[in-house]
Amino acid sequence: MRLKNKVAVVTGGANGIGEAYTTGIAKEGAAVVIADLDEKRGKTIADEIKKSGGKAMFVRTDVSKKSDAEKMVQSAIREFGSIDILVNNAGILFTAPFEETTEDMWDKLFAVNVKGLFFCSQAVAREMKKKRSGKIINISSIAAIGAQAGLCAYSSTKGAVLPVTLVFALELAGYNVQVNAILPGTTDTGMAKAAMADPEWTRQITAGIPMKRLGETKDLLGAVLFFASSDSDYCTGQTLIVDGGYSMV
Ligand SMILES: NC(=O)c1ccc[n+]([C@@H]2O[C@H](COP(=O)([O-])OP(=O)(O)OC[C@H]3O[C@@H](n4cnc5c(N)ncnc54)[C@H](O)[C@@H]3O)[C@@H](O)[C@H]2O)c1
Repeated sequence: MRLKNKVAVVTGGANGIGEAYTTGIAKEGAAVVIADLDEKRGKTIADEIKKSGGKAMFVRTDVSKKSDAEKMVQSAIREFGSIDILVNNAGILFTAPFEETTEDMWDKLFAVNVKGLFFCSQAVAREMKKKRSGKIINISSIAAIGAQAGLCAYSSTKGAVLPVTLVFALELAGYNVQVNAILPGTTDTGMAKAAMADPEWTRQITAGIPMKRLGETKDLLGAVLFFASSDSDYCTGQTLIVDGGYSMV
């Protein structure tokens, strides 16, 4: 087990790719805190982990609220004593041509995808600095590095995650806290499911992927475990693209 005796927080860990991170990290021996809005699903996953001998808790958290992020971190520390790993995975998506993107869409996207990641990290980093050890993993997207019609506002949020990752990494490097980012390609989960209902969309996206298939949640887990474990102890401020080769062509 690569994460025995560690404590991990996974934001948005109740569904989609986040659920795969939650269960995968638990299987590696860490206690997992599921910080999500989806209470029903989050509690179910936490119960399943506990039934199979692991440690988990659900904390209802709206990451876009700094006070929620801080309360979640305090609950995690009360329950498990510390936090070693933070996976900033919670995210939302709205698609619209940029001329039709509303102020409300823009503000909501930035509130969850950037502000949420920022203040969850701030709250967790204070604890990690005290311990002089920790891992922060920021989930960006290939939308940060390439143009996809309808994704201007979403892509802007995922782009913002890249300099945020670099500055966190620099400011925390002296405290033995590593901060890295993962850029998933299109993955067959909640966020992409609506678009996948259109077979033509799926055909076109798949045709552009050299590996000729969409990502599956299990495809992302290895990258998270690498950045969460001691295997990445000398690696910080880096990005890992997991997209079946989409961005290389
Ligand atoms: N699915 C993809 O194709 C894809 C591609 C690249 C990057 N990503 C990124 O991966 C992450 C997960 O995507 P997914 O497809 O699994 O999404 P999803 O919609 O399936 O799951 C997102 C989770 O985040 C939670 N969440 C939403 N708003 C929240 C908030 N304010 N506070 C706390 N939790 C909140 C939801 O309840 C849900 O459990 C996102 O950051 C997304 O941008 C996804």
